Amino acid sequence: MKVLVIGAGNMGLTYSEGMATSPLLSKHKLRIFDTDPKKNETLRADSRFNVFDTLDDCLPKADIVFIAVKPYHSDNLFEQMKAMVNDSQIFVSLMAGVTIDTIQQKLGVKKIVRTMPNLPALVGKGVTSYTASEVVSNVELILIRNLLDTTGTSIHVNTEKFIDASTGISGSGPAYVFYFMQSMLEAALKMGFSDYDSKVLVSNTFEGAIELFNQSNLSPESWIDRVASKGGTTQAAIDSMDDNNVKQLIQDAAYAAFDRAVELGKEK
Ligand SMILES: NC(=O)c1ccc[n+]([C@@H]2O[C@H](COP(=O)([O-])OP(=O)(O)OC[C@H]3O[C@@H](n4cnc5c(N)ncnc54)[C@H](OP(=O)(O)O)[C@@H]3O)[C@@H](O)[C@H]2O)c1
Repeated sequence: MKVLVIGAGNMGLTYSEGMATSPLLSKHKLRIFDTDPKKNETLRADSRFNVFDTLDDCLPKADIVFIAVKPYHSDNLFEQMKAMVNDSQIFVSLMAGVTIDTIQQKLGVKKIVRTMPNLPALVGKGVTSYTASEVVSNVELILIRNLLDTTGTSIHVNTEKFIDASTGISGSGPAYVFYFMQSMLEAALKMGFSDYDSKVLVSNTFEGAIELFNQSNLSPESWIDRVASKGGTTQAAIDSMDDNNVKQLIQDAAYAAFDRAVELGKEK
């Protein structure tokens, strides 16, 4: 199977590195096309990739094409691709806000998978949500899922509404976690801990809590109940957050990202 990635930036390269390990690519090296000659030069030194300077040499024969350019470059790219694509190819878009309908119309092809990746894919812990146009078969979807899962895990969603919604949860979500981490780091520093100790305290608290959650069937709420005893320190912190409506504010933030994703889709 010939897999081509167009755009070797943050996301394209992350997915390329994951997919290069896939047994599905055992016969053909992962193909990469980027417009930046310097980037291509560097990538050529990597034996996992087959790097191309022109689309004519790699696009017409590709079976699966990942598109990982910035959304504002997509119109220009679609224009270049249009004469070289066919209906049997599957196009997997990593681009935020570019709808299946837009890709179908601009490329004149039918088989489209639209995804919402997230940043932890960089360390093999990403979660990608994906949905596909009707003509993509179940077998093809399994194939795509196997490729996406090389960067972590994935979930299939039935409609593009849930791609926009997952932007608000998992796509933008790592930034919410970093925001919370930064707040705790600043609190630790104010209490007088050193930079190093603050980082150790905060990072291990997050890691430990996630591990507890992953290794049990308990909800986060049940874990809070187990940690917080009446009149104790944790309860004082939770009461403070509840009094300040923090839960609602975080939900509002997730909806703000969701709404912005919908808006960006309309602007395209
Ligand atoms: N980064 C994230 O956390 C994240 C999360 C979710 C979704 N996404 C989506 O992932 C996509 C890629 O984002 P990114 O952060 O990886 O962008 P990026 O780092 O800018 O990478 C895009 C790459 O594509 C190249 N390129 C531009 N036009 C091209 C063309 N016509 N043909 C081939 N290559 C071309 C760019 O070259 P130049 O640098 O020379 O322009 C660059 O190397 C975006 O659509 C974004 O919405 C990203």
